[in-house]
Amino acid sequence: MTNPPYTETIAACAEALLDKMGSGRPKTALVLGSGLGPFGEDMDVETVVPYGDLPGFPQSTVKDHKGRFLIGRAAGIPLICMQGRVHLYEGYPASLLAVPIRVLKSIGVETLVLTNAAGSLRTDMPSGSLMMITDHINLSGQNPLIGPNADNFGPRFHDVTQAWTPLLQEALLEAALEAGVTLHRGVYLQVSGPNFETPAEIRAFGRMGADAVGMSTVPEALVASHAGMAVAGISLITNLAAGLSPVELTHTETIEEAAKAYARIKALLMAFFAGRTSA
Ligand code: HPA
Repeated sequence: MTNPPYTETIAACAEALLDKMGSGRPKTALVLGSGLGPFGEDMDVETVVPYGDLPGFPQSTVKDHKGRFLIGRAAGIPLICMQGRVHLYEGYPASLLAVPIRVLKSIGVETLVLTNAAGSLRTDMPSGSLMMITDHINLSGQNPLIGPNADNFGPRFHDVTQAWTPLLQEALLEAALEAGVTLHRGVYLQVSGPNFETPAEIRAFGRMGADAVGMSTVPEALVASHAGMAVAGISLITNLAAGLSPVELTHTETIEEAAKAYARIKALLMAFFAGRTSA
């Protein structure tokens, strides 16, 4: 039986990361989506590890994605942050998207907070809104768990009924109250990208039950839940989806709108982390 893909890479990256990390062992990780890069200046960073220092670790080709781990503390809790992630549309095999998450699991991370920029299918959730992911629809056509199963991480067939951990959803809603920010709840639908959707696709996705659409996050959530990690997700809405607004969809708009909403998502994340002092 062949090994699951990237078995040696995951072990080598985890070892290299542990070597560079010092003594702290954060149990919580945060993946920063488009426009969330400034979070690096708002946490107390003790160690920076560029992805390039880890042998075989996937590197993003997207402009504005930095590609490094930030290790330190946020709101008092130990945290490891991923500044930059890889996407299916960059052409990487889906199984490669398992590597960062399995490296995090291997160094002791138990809770994964995923963030992204997304288009909204609801006019009552316009640009600048924050949406907590309560569930997802995987329409990317791909799955990072395809291939020989990594038995050391999780079972061949795993239940994803509660992939978006209910306790973390409660904690996020409490944090939103504390931070005074409105937090919508909704279903995130992932497409492969790289093009934005057609208006007909958006109409179809709305009928399927999606509230927001984007090009990331689901592979990471699948790999993390397979490995038994608790998973939370926040979408920062940067636009109304295709056909719902006359504004042309561009990556520049995504980055600009994410920057405008940054203060609110930062307040939400800090309140969430502050509430996890026992974690
Ligand atoms: N569609 C897909 N991905 C996105 C969008 C969108 O409208 N906005 C930000 N990321």
